[in-house]
Amino acid sequence: MRTIDWVDGAIELIDQTLLPHRLEVRRVTELPELIDDIQRLAVRGAPALGVAGAMGVALIAAAVEAANGDEELDRDEVRRQAALLREARPTAVNLSWGVDRALTKLDRGTAAVLDEALTIRDEDIAACVSMGLRGADLTRELTGKDRVRVMTICNTGSLATVERGTALGVIQTLLEQGSLEEAFPLETRPLLQGARLTAWELQRMEAPFRLIIDSAGPFLLSRGIADAVFIGADRIAANGDSANKIGSFSLALAAKHAGVPFIVVAPESTVDMSTASGAAIEIEDRGSAEVTGFGGTRTAPEGIGTVNPAFDVTPHELITAIVTERRVILPGSGQTLSGVPFEPLRS
Ligand code: MRU
Repeated sequence: MRTIDWVDGAIELIDQTLLPHRLEVRRVTELPELIDDIQRLAVRGAPALGVAGAMGVALIAAAVEAANGDEELDRDEVRRQAALLREARPTAVNLSWGVDRALTKLDRGTAAVLDEALTIRDEDIAACVSMGLRGADLTRELTGKDRVRVMTICNTGSLATVERGTALGVIQTLLEQGSLEEAFPLETRPLLQGARLTAWELQRMEAPFRLIIDSAGPFLLSRGIADAVFIGADRIAANGDSANKIGSFSLALAAKHAGVPFIVVAPESTVDMSTASGAAIEIEDRGSAEVTGFGGTRTAPEGIGTVNPAFDVTPHELITAIVTERRVILPGSGQTLSGVPFEPLRS
């Protein structure tokens, strides 16, 4: 099942807020619903947000065209509404990338916009296969092992993309190739994408894994529990600094201390060459409610302040490798994104 798709003139997406208890597909026909779904994380994960952004523009264009009747498509109105969608979440560059790419076809009409959105969907599927193969080979090479134990954070699986995933896609590929000894997903406070979504996906693929709490990750790396750490990314700056779910930076520090490879897996659409370094990446603060309680139950006293960054930035020096669908970059060894050429997709 695809996480997000275009079906009979509307977006259909798995409502991730209901997992692991209920698997439900939502049909989204209007822009305000889509923005709300993005903001409450019904659809989430950088590559899936890219597809949502592009399909969202197709939805907008179709609605504007229908409202205009026989008149020419009001492109300014489409662009005005697309700007609202673009800003629904700030950190994952894929969202604005998907919106902007779909908008490049606006002059050719609504059908061309939809075609571009479907192309982005198909490219995402192919990219995940390619990243999985590159990442699995690289892991065996870096660790010198045929069977590996890996740690990961947040959800970077099929739910964060259209199918298969990025970092979790590498873990799935290792599993399929007989190279996965065990996976250790972190639960990922405050919204538990690791416990709710990654554990659900690992269970469905029948992978060997044990769930751990976030604060156990760095310590367990120091005790040699894993041979490699894989994470996804929401935005990779030109110098290789990578924004990802809060907790990634602590894992990178611990991986360095433990001498364990720290590998970022993300499609080229997550690379943002217009952002020079991680210092310039906007980090979404998701407000107090996620910190002071969970699932409607208050866990902290009333009347307190919070800081709730949804993401952190791992400096490129701590990143052993960035794996995309078209290349492997080694920032920790001094390679830069601009210095590594593109290769063909692997399938
Ligand atoms: O807040 P979320 O759940 O959208 O955060 C997602 C992540 O941080 C993922 O690791 C990232 O988007 C990469 S998904 C392949």
